[in-house]
Amino acid sequence: MPEPLLDVRDLRVSFRTRTGRVTAVDGLSLSVAPGEVLGVVGESGSGKSVSMLAVLRLLTNPNVLVSGEVRFRGRDLLTLPDKEMRAVRGREIAMVFQDPMTALTPVYTVGWQIAEQIRAHERVSRKEANSRAVQLLSDVGIPDATARARAYPHEFSGGMRQRAVIAMALSCSPALLIADEPTTALDVTVQAQILDLMRELNARGSAMVLITHDMGVVSEIADRVLVMYGGRVAEEGPRRAVFHGPRHPYTWGLLDSVPRVGGARLRRLPTIAGMPVAPGDLPPGCAFAPRCRLRHDRCEELPRLTAGRAGDGHRDACWLAPDDRAALRKSAQQTEVAS
Ligand SMILES: Nc1ncnc2c1ncn2[C@@H]1O[C@H](COP(=O)(O)OP(=O)(O)OP(=O)(O)O)[C@@H](O)[C@H]1O
Ligand code: SF4
Ligand SMILES: [Mg+2]
Repeated sequence: MPEPLLDVRDLRVSFRTRTGRVTAVDGLSLSVAPGEVLGVVGESGSGKSVSMLAVLRLLTNPNVLVSGEVRFRGRDLLTLPDKEMRAVRGREIAMVFQDPMTALTPVYTVGWQIAEQIRAHERVSRKEANSRAVQLLSDVGIPDATARARAYPHEFSGGMRQRAVIAMALSCSPALLIADEPTTALDVTVQAQILDLMRELNARGSAMVLITHDMGVVSEIADRVLVMYGGRVAEEGPRRAVFHGPRHPYTWGLLDSVPRVGGARLRRLPTIAGMPVAPGDLPPGCAFAPRCRLRHDRCEELPRLTAGRAGDGHRDACWLAPDDRAALRKSAQQTEVAS
């Protein structure tokens, strides 16, 4: 196993609210190897964005409490001095969010912002940086890049802004790209183009954490998949193992509601019966228990993330006997069809 590029251990994020402390991320551990694509899925509110914002130290609100360890290339990002952390964010880790305005400043032209990004990590003249910025905008498919580089973010469409943010990411060939639903707000054609750009970045060696509601995207580009529920990992493993032999009842729910081959491609995460758990309302044991048809007495205790026998890192947190899972999933599917 190569040394992980990013190694998150026991990450906890809680918010102080009027009604008390709520824990949005509850002991999350994950790792990403150099060049690897980790797809992160889970319903709304499962803690995907909050955990990545914590990794990037972008949760600056004084009511937020973050603990755990975030090792990136051997350093703990959670204890790094602010200045070094900013350098890591600019040079080594790039971010693409659903709302590209998070990464763009409204008061500067797009070209200027990309050129600044280049100059932040390379000793090049302003002129050289400007022409590189134009080239990058053109590389990401922005027509008439010379003129567009002089435009302000609000003069760009949503898809063009997202491309500009990806151009910024490309400009520093980051070791890691963290992308949080980068294509959700875009139309299908632009989505495909943005995904191609991300694939290209990956082909050039950047590892990725890709948060998405689109199981199709995960099945296409992720090397490994991590399924989150209630701020914890429900299941994780190599893509093939998770798609072909999912082990956790929550993952069954996600996959079994995906239309069969030939049907319309599902762009949003499927809905599963019952309400997602809210961070302030976690039951004491398995967070999925209130919605799980297979819950039993043991589920009142917290299930630990446990590896299966394959030795491929496929793990899940559920009390069901490991050998019964495939049969139980089949019978769960049949009950679903019957009801
Ligand atoms: N500032 C805050 N104060 C209190 N709770 C918060 C705050 N920010 C986020 N949360 C809560 O943390 C939980 C996790 O939120 P998060 O945004 O990480 O979910 P997510 O998995 O990214 O969902 P989505 O798929 O909708 O983007 C949510 O229940 C959210 O309400
Ligand atoms: S631990 Fe129990 S409640 Fe949780 S998913 Fe497994 S069977 Fe269902
Ligand atoms: Mg989110």
